[in-house]
Amino acid sequence: MTYQVIIPAAGLGKRMQAGKNKLLLEINDIPVLVHTLRVFEEDEACSGIILAIHPQDEREISALLKKYLISKVLSLVPGGDERQHSIYNALKTVKTDGIILVHDAARPFIRKDHIHRLTQKAEETGAAIMGVPAKDTMKKVINGVVMETVERSSLWAVQTPQAFRVSLLKKAYKTAEKDKFLGTDDASLVEQLDHPVSIVEGDYDNIKLTTPEDLYFAEAIIKKREK
Ligand code: CTP
Ligand code: MG
Repeated sequence: MTYQVIIPAAGLGKRMQAGKNKLLLEINDIPVLVHTLRVFEEDEACSGIILAIHPQDEREISALLKKYLISKVLSLVPGGDERQHSIYNALKTVKTDGIILVHDAARPFIRKDHIHRLTQKAEETGAAIMGVPAKDTMKKVINGVVMETVERSSLWAVQTPQAFRVSLLKKAYKTAEKDKFLGTDDASLVEQLDHPVSIVEGDYDNIKLTTPEDLYFAEAIIKKREK
């Protein structure tokens, strides 16, 4: 069981308000991007990484790959205006079939055993995503008024990685481009093809670093794992 992984890292990190790409911020003296890359660098099942980056970060990221001895990056591709465009640029460079993962660089706490469970599921079904059951009570709200309380037991918060057969993901991206469909994750493009998507239970620790307070949670997760 091997896979390749597309890592979109070409965002601007605006909500983090750090004045630069949040992926270059350090947690425990190591850049967020390097934390994420190391998980895949150290996973023997990962046969290659395709990294989408913003041209303005190219020098700094190239230097980090050298400094931290990240050897599995097959190519650095330019990102696009939207995450979906960054991923499509990367997907177009994938020449092999098999399983492809998409994992946000902004989720540095993904664990190898969870990646393997997800990959296994995608091999069986063609499309599998990772998520966790919703913990909060969920309500549908329109214009500040509650429309309904949504049955929580059927709601999951979805994360990355997401894993697909290469041919299926390529077809989904091609169709989305033709239909001008912009999804908020990769699976939503596959759903547009009416292909079933399986979900594998992940880890509440697999947070996406989005706003400044997420950095405090990140420090806490690292401390917990060091114990
Ligand atoms: N991303 C990307 N290309 C884009 C936008 C986002 O590759 N055009 C990447 C980000 O670098 C990140 C992941 O997609 O690893 C998830 O996006 P998000 O958390 O929204 O990061 P940013 O877009 O960088 O942050 P913001 O939306 O706050 O500007
Ligand atoms: Mg964004």
